[in-house]
Formats: sequence, C-alpha cells, structure tokens
Amino acid sequence: MKPYQTSYWQIDPTHIDQSFVQEAAALLQQQQVVAFPTETVYGLGADATNEEAVQAIFDAKGRPSDNPLIVHVGNKEQVYEVVESIPPMAHALIDAYAPGPLTLIMKSNGVSAPNVTAGLSTVAVRIPDHPVAKALLETANLPLAAPSANRSGRPSPTTAQHVYEDLEGRIAGIVDGGATGIGVESTVVDCTGDKPIILRPGGITKEQIEAVAGPVGNDESSLNADDQPRSPGMKYTHYAPEAPLWLVEGDVPFFKAQIAVLQQNGKKVGVMASEELAPEVEQADFVHVYGSRASLNEVAVGLYNALRSFNTKDVDVILSEVFPEEGMGVAVMNRLRKAASETIVQP
Ligand code: TXA
Ligand code: MG
Repeated sequence: MKPYQTSYWQIDPTHIDQSFVQEAAALLQQQQVVAFPTETVYGLGADATNEEAVQAIFDAKGRPSDNPLIVHVGNKEQVYEVVESIPPMAHALIDAYAPGPLTLIMKSNGVSAPNVTAGLSTVAVRIPDHPVAKALLETANLPLAAPSANRSGRPSPTTAQHVYEDLEGRIAGIVDGGATGIGVESTVVDCTGDKPIILRPGGITKEQIEAVAGPVGNDESSLNADDQPRSPGMKYTHYAPEAPLWLVEGDVPFFKAQIAVLQQNGKKVGVMASEELAPEVEQADFVHVYGSRASLNEVAVGLYNALRSFNTKDVDVILSEVFPEEGMGVAVMNRLRKAASETIVQP
C-alpha cells in the first residue's frame, strides 16, 4: 500500500532554493513527515511537539514504539525550548561540537510529544550541521523529531536515493541535498549523570568528548537503575543487508580461505572491501570497494552504501574485514557488528 504521493525536491546545499525549503517546511507545519539530509545520515522529520505527526514517523519506518527519537533544533538557544536545564558537561559539549554530529540526552521539559521520548523523562537533542537541515529547521520554526530515514532494521540512508528505496509512498516528502558527509550517525551522550556516558559511538569520537567533558563511561549496553537499557534502540536489529554478513578477523590468506570454503559449498560470496583488501579477493562473486584503511573517516562515509549495495546482487553471504577500533573506527565497528548480528569468523 502506498498511501502517499511523495514530493521530491532537489536542493543544492551551496545554493539553497528557498522556495523548495518553504514547500517542505509547509508540509512539516501541516504535521506531515519529510525526509531531509543532515551531515551524518538522512533524517525522517516531523513536528516533535505533535503526537500524531510523530506517530506517522514510527508508522512509516515500522519502528518499535519503545525506541525514542532525537529532537533536532536549529541553534543553541532552541535547545532550552525542549530541556529542563542544560548540565555543565552538556554546555561544554554544545560549545565545542554543536552544530555537529553529537546528540545529548538531558531531562525533558515535556514540550516534546510523549512518543518522541517513548515515555522516558529524558530527551535526546541535536543541532545538525548541514545547510539544508538548518534552512528547514529555521523555516519550519519547529523542533523536529527525526530518526534515520530508513525502514527499521535496514542500513541508515546516506543518499536521498536510499530514502526513496525505503520510504517512497510512505511519507509526504523527500528533500534531496546530495550524499551526506560523515556517513555514520551522531554520537549519543547521556548527560544526566555525574559523567558523560557514550550510549552510541558516532561522528564525534570519545577522545573529542573527553577533551571537553572529562572521562567518559563508554558502555552502550549499560543499564539504568530500573534495569532498562539506557539507549533503548540498542537492543534491536540494525543496519542489516538482506544476505547474512560475517565479519572476518585474521590475515588476508585466512580471508581468502573463507571465500574458497563457502564457494566450495555452492555459496555465492560478496565482499565489502577496502582498497587494500580488494585486489586480494577477486575470487569473490561480487566485491564492493569503499575507501581506504588509511582513512577510517572515508570508510565511515561509504559504509551504509556498501551494506546496501549487496541487496541488488546475487550473493548468499557477505564477508567484511574488520577495522581498528580507534577514532572513527569505533563507530564503524559498532555498526558492522550490529549489521552482522555479532557473527565473527576467527582463525
Ligand atoms: O545522526 C543521527 O543521530 C541521525 C540523524 C538523522 O540526526 N539520527 C539517528 O536517529 O540516528 P535514530 O533514531 O536512528 O537513533 C537515535 C538513537 C537511538 O539509539 C535511540 O535509542 C537513542 O538515540 N535515544 C533517543 N532518545 C533517547 C533517550 N531519551 N535516552 C536514551 N537514548 C535515546
Ligand atoms: Mg537509526
């Protein structure tokens, strides 16, 4: 069923066509759901103060209702409109990294609709750093609840084409502002305790957080006092391509041996490969090359597109190399592990 005729606007982020922004903003003001680019991934936005509008996000994505959404605002002043107060560590993080790929969990003041926060007393807030997102937030003049604009469980969208594949006919509009620059989502930091806790690694590294907010706890699986996961989204399947993904540890000969064994068993093998690995794995049935091991930022940019690339290929299993867990590699490996449901092949 396709209940919507999805509007589509192409906006050049360097020359923003304000008439397109106004059309998209008008839909948001009419409580409709519109996808838009941010610097991390595409978001699926709706008026965060309106329960029905927010419900339409959950419906379009097929997202479980106990997984809360991030509220996006246009500038630092507007953070105050959705939180009770800003703790000192959050102030320091906002001053250093906002706008940017950072989401802060603070006490909600109740302005956000109850389904945005999934009934929690806290709210996740982020100021995106993308000219089209900024223009839309300013013109709509609303806080926008926006999860990543993918169908629940699938890799997050880094192009408007990905959004279209997942959500055409299910939402009112898509603003195409080109490919996103960072490629993985924002870092989610819980600022409600004594020290910042990273609930989801992302575009701002642990080192960057610690530089301004002191030592962090980095346990995304940590439970709160009621034994509830702190970041409810963490328990669900995420980022999964259609074929199973296995992460292969060990050296290049071991990787090649895995391909050979699978092929001997009649399996068609896809490989997600860095530029360094690609020439070694030409025996695979399909190889998607996406960046150099010398730049984990580049790997992050291409990661979700790589995961999606196998959906149109005839492969039974996808193998991926692993990356060092430092800097942006922490977020990359976090997403790869989830996409693989922790299936790891070791020598
Ligand atoms: O980069 C991003 O963060 C993108 C762009 C669109 O801004 N958004 C995004 O949203 O990734 P989403 O919904 O896919 O992920 C939000 C994460 C989930 O893991 C959710 O559980 C967590 O933030 N979250 C939201 N509100 C929370 C809260 N009050 N307490 C703890 N975790 C929260
Ligand atoms: Mg998501």
